Amino acid sequence: MSDVDRAAIEKDEQNLLEPYAAQALIALDAVLDLKSLEACRVELLGKSGLITRLLKDVGALASAERPVRAALRNRLKAQIAAALEQRRGQLEEAALSVRFNAERIDITAPPRPEASGSIHPISRTMEELVAIFGAMGFALKEGPDIEDDWYSFGALNIPAHHPARAMMDTFYLNASFGNRPAVLRPHTSTVQIRTMLEWALERAKGCEPAPIRIIVPGRTFRADHDATHSPMFHQTEGLVIGRDITLAHLKGCLIDFLRAYFNLPELPVRFRASYFPFTEPSMEVDIGWNRKSGEIGKGSDWLEVLGSGMVHPNVLANCGIDPRQYQGFAFGVGVERITMLKHGIADLRLFFENDVRWLRHYGFSPLAPATLYEGI
Ligand code: PHE
Repeated sequence: MSDVDRAAIEKDEQNLLEPYAAQALIALDAVLDLKSLEACRVELLGKSGLITRLLKDVGALASAERPVRAALRNRLKAQIAAALEQRRGQLEEAALSVRFNAERIDITAPPRPEASGSIHPISRTMEELVAIFGAMGFALKEGPDIEDDWYSFGALNIPAHHPARAMMDTFYLNASFGNRPAVLRPHTSTVQIRTMLEWALERAKGCEPAPIRIIVPGRTFRADHDATHSPMFHQTEGLVIGRDITLAHLKGCLIDFLRAYFNLPELPVRFRASYFPFTEPSMEVDIGWNRKSGEIGKGSDWLEVLGSGMVHPNVLANCGIDPRQYQGFAFGVGVERITMLKHGIADLRLFFENDVRWLRHYGFSPLAPATLYEGI
């Protein structure tokens, strides 16, 4: 075959193939996912695909033309196969980046909150009392739960067989300290005695110690159990002793305390004459509230919240402090009672049932301690 003939056949074949090539490339370009790409491949290069058919047709051609046309058709097949692979590469990469975006782990997401403990409302109230009285210069003081009956009664001007002992249904233990029966302390007033004895001892050494100003939160025990009494409960005692402490100090101090604790700067506070063996005069302290709605600070009803008084001279003397030189005041607050009032808790027994749902609801964050400057 002459070169001229060969060139003519090549030209003819190119003309024949060109539309197929163009059509194939356009089809590949239009394919947007790997599934359609596979369908396109079958249409072009599959068993009965376009290019496959073109190659098969070569067999039917005149033998002189076959090598020229076959070479060009094979070249087209190779071109299309290469274009197909290139498109596959592009689509795979796109699919991968879609997946990467969808599956990206956001490391800036906050950690899942872990179940954390909370501060029991009773502990919280005692922390609040310590914060409020701490701001007034009171020091925190604690004493033992197991006491003898002298610290619990005798020193507090309640001699043996005195009817006032019946005010407190005390748990007596099957034990004693020397000849003094051991008891679970029925009030925190025992710590008054311990503190005044220590103070008198200091003074006996010849120097004048700083006046006493203490706040004493703690557990107390009485044989009593109903919606407003538990055999184990909490009190917070206060004691101030100095040379010139008067009833006016008691009143100012307790009014300030109650207004800070209930967060009501105008809370009405009333002092009502009462009786405790260890104070003279003695006063119950009431706050204003509305009996019907339970709202504190509003209404014309009064609600008793704590006991107080000027420390009885006999108590000072029992502790080795001369009542002609020193005087002071004391008070005792029921922690459950003021917690129930502040948070609207109706039944005191709930405090000690340890129902985690209740504790979660009424509990306080351990990360938010009681501070005066944030408001109690
Ligand atoms: N100790 C008394 C009680 O438990 C409360 C109180 C304390 C009263 C101090 C006056 C002074 O009831």
